[in-house]
Amino acid sequence: MAFRQAKWSEPMIFELSKSDKQPFMVDSEFREQAREALAKIPEHLLRSTEPEIPNLSEVEVVRHYTKLSQMAYGVDLGPVPLGSCTMKYSPKISEELASDPRVVDLHPYQDLDSVQGILEMMYLMQRWLSDITGMDECSLQPPAGASGEFVGALIIKKYHVDKGNTSKDEMLVPEAAHGSNPASSAMAGFKVIKIPTAPDGETDVEALKSVLSDNTAGLMLTNPNTLGIFESKIVEISDLLHGRDALMYYDGANLNGILGIVRPGDMGFDIVHLNLHKTFSAPHGGGGPGGGAVCVKGRLKDYLPVPIVDFNGRKYVFKYDLSKSIGRITWFYGNVVPVVKSFIYISALGPALKEVAEVSVLNTNYLMQKVARLKGVSLVYGEGRWRKHEFVVSFEKLLKETGVSAEDVAKALLDRGFHAPTIYFPLIVKEDHMIEVTETETKENIDALARAYEEIVELAYSRPELVKSTPVNTSVRRLDMLTANHPKTVTPTYKYIERLRTR
Ligand SMILES: Cc1ncc(COP(=O)(O)O)c(C=O)c1O
Repeated sequence: MAFRQAKWSEPMIFELSKSDKQPFMVDSEFREQAREALAKIPEHLLRSTEPEIPNLSEVEVVRHYTKLSQMAYGVDLGPVPLGSCTMKYSPKISEELASDPRVVDLHPYQDLDSVQGILEMMYLMQRWLSDITGMDECSLQPPAGASGEFVGALIIKKYHVDKGNTSKDEMLVPEAAHGSNPASSAMAGFKVIKIPTAPDGETDVEALKSVLSDNTAGLMLTNPNTLGIFESKIVEISDLLHGRDALMYYDGANLNGILGIVRPGDMGFDIVHLNLHKTFSAPHGGGGPGGGAVCVKGRLKDYLPVPIVDFNGRKYVFKYDLSKSIGRITWFYGNVVPVVKSFIYISALGPALKEVAEVSVLNTNYLMQKVARLKGVSLVYGEGRWRKHEFVVSFEKLLKETGVSAEDVAKALLDRGFHAPTIYFPLIVKEDHMIEVTETETKENIDALARAYEEIVELAYSRPELVKSTPVNTSVRRLDMLTANHPKTVTPTYKYIERLRTR
């Protein structure tokens, strides 16, 4: 099975433009009106030079952008097995309903009586997400997962300060954590204390005990962790933290592996954020908009960012008077459209929500059995254990034996029509791929991905130079990683911006 991606390289729209050409336009009446309107503008306000916009006809613009859209690989074209990203297929019904003008044309200053339907959806989402996570109240304010973490860290800080515990300035974070966890903790003013991972792939409890102190403010953890392994000692860990009056924060960016099966609240967590743009299918990519809802246990309810949606017995209203609130975290009411999409997703699945976890876990382990057994590939942590929503494999041995790196393997996957998985994360596994196929991939697609891995590994042992020179079938060949990461990379866009700047 090959997932076809359009394969040609296109010039920039500015390069297509020819200044002496008169583009064909149908709307001559409109042009006449434009000329009349222009004639009314005072001379000194008119620009003296032509605008630098491409001189092309409508059909040329449409064709250019249609071609570009076909050069992009997305989940509508084939699997995107990016670990820690949960790139599931987002049902078109959510897109269609959420694109209704009654949703997209809403204005934040609209009278509340005219937006009761949307407010009811937000209110129900606060209730449903509380139920799903085992918490008591949620705020839909944070616009992303990392923003939800920051909110959580600020809540932890304010909780301790309010109790007079100003010495609690340390946040424990496993070294396998997503990079945003230590970053959010540091932004909130905490010292970050790293906790190592034990060989079984779980948080090293003895190491945790050795750094736990009266200065510990909280622990940020995700369970299943970034290796896809469920932390079986989670209740013991929660008890240890609570024994020091420290709070438990759950990074629920990827809830796929446990949805409807177990709840962070029942594991002892006090605060959780959810990425609506992952687990709950509001699609992500292209920079958002995202939804990083934060839910808390009852004793932390008043710390949530405002506003939250409340029902006063007659109608839905925004509630701002939470006595200990950390304040506002974003503009108006957060990103409402992802909330609507997730609302549709949860309502459509209903009790079948737990099949998301069942099927994604099955898919993960099925693929892991095939990939982790290949020559030169190993699991490093948690050998012999089942995974939840994702797994991590190392190509360190393959690199030693053939010179082919994890990056080379990822590039070779592109040539076979797949999006590459996440690579070189988590940092505790060298030369790794972090793979997550989600519940929306079929067995045929997973088999095809496994076959691609098998083919690449075999080729690495027989003709390594062929793997190292990939990709050859994509629109763009292998990028020079150093140049690609350089802020002044010389692309046509960069050249154009430079030209405008120095004019
Ligand atoms: C485990 C985990 N935590 C937090 C985040 C941050 O989420 P966002 O990208 O929405 O800020 C991610 C995103 O990749 C993640 O995988």
